[in-house]
Amino acid sequence: MDSEKIEIFDTTLRDGEQVPGCKLNTEQKLIIAERLDELGIDIIEAGFPISSPGDFESVSEISKLVRKAKVCGLTRANKKDIDTAAEALKFAKRPRIHTGIGTSDSHIKYKFNSTREDIIERAAEAVRYAKTYVEDVEFYAEDAGRTDNEYLARVCEAVIKAGATVLNIPDTTGYCLPEEYGQKIKYLRENVKGIEKAVLSCHCHNDLGLATANSIAGAINGARQIECTINGLGERAGNTALEEVVMILKQHKDLNLHTNVNSRMLNEMSTMVSDLMGMSVQPNKAIVGANAFAHSSGIHQDGVIKNRETYEIIDPAEVGVNASSIILTARSGRSALAYRFKHIGYEVTKNELDYLYQEFLKIADLKKEIGNDDLSLMMESFSRKI
Ligand code: KIV
Ligand code: ZN
Repeated sequence: MDSEKIEIFDTTLRDGEQVPGCKLNTEQKLIIAERLDELGIDIIEAGFPISSPGDFESVSEISKLVRKAKVCGLTRANKKDIDTAAEALKFAKRPRIHTGIGTSDSHIKYKFNSTREDIIERAAEAVRYAKTYVEDVEFYAEDAGRTDNEYLARVCEAVIKAGATVLNIPDTTGYCLPEEYGQKIKYLRENVKGIEKAVLSCHCHNDLGLATANSIAGAINGARQIECTINGLGERAGNTALEEVVMILKQHKDLNLHTNVNSRMLNEMSTMVSDLMGMSVQPNKAIVGANAFAHSSGIHQDGVIKNRETYEIIDPAEVGVNASSIILTARSGRSALAYRFKHIGYEVTKNELDYLYQEFLKIADLKKEIGNDDLSLMMESFSRKI
């Protein structure tokens, strides 16, 4: 069976930028958008054009710049938002309007003071209106994670009839469990009339730390687009992390799913976005964290030095990291010490290593990490002794 493609929809510049305190200017957004295009992203969500003149300008400039990816603008389900998005996207080679409305009972009651039937009408009307501008219209059912499946299927049917090409099923509050989210996608695939005309899309938030797991469960159950952000940036606990999705699909060939993303650019993308947004990446972040390929305990270091695959499931080069690192701490063993000495130009015999290791432990107990300078000093004082 041929592997099927998962379209990667990057929303770093829209949902990702909703992180408190993270304002990007147009110039910075253009730098990111250009690199996302080179990375192999299928759809770049460039912003929410009606939200501010700055966002409008960014979407418009990104539309002029991006050559390969589709460029998408977000709207609510009303004409003014859609008119504004269409205007901002008018220079895009491949524009997409992303419109939608809340579908859970709490959104219908508290946000809209409305009824389920009225929401279906408004959803379909918004899609029909967006279609007067662009062929490619994605519909989002906000809070789909907490929307009852039968009703959600009716909403989906109505918007497909109105011309939606993509159905975004957001777990807006990050509430779902992977099994539940996967079953939701499966239910829609099996119960929505006309579903073959649209692509199902996962858009998961990370409030319970399940955004990536939920997105993968969605893909396993038939979704063919995943919405994500670099470094998992986004409101509250963030969105699905792009680098995680890409590497899960790359490592798990058994899923028979792939993306067009050039994984070798992931590390550099992560650093660039982190620097421009002023949001540091937690060291233990999967794939792109500073410790993702760092080994510090003796048993692990010994294994990795003998063969990298003992404790690494990804070759660091695959994500653009030069090499795994062996961090010297008080938990390190002799083989790690010999390895690091060799790395800075010293070959040591077994007896020398036995001696140096005892010296190393004395210093390591006083410091968090032993660096190359410490090793050189140790070697100098050792040379003076012999
Ligand atoms: O999380 C969400 O529901 C969203 C939609 C606006 C797509 O970001
Ligand atoms: Zn979102």
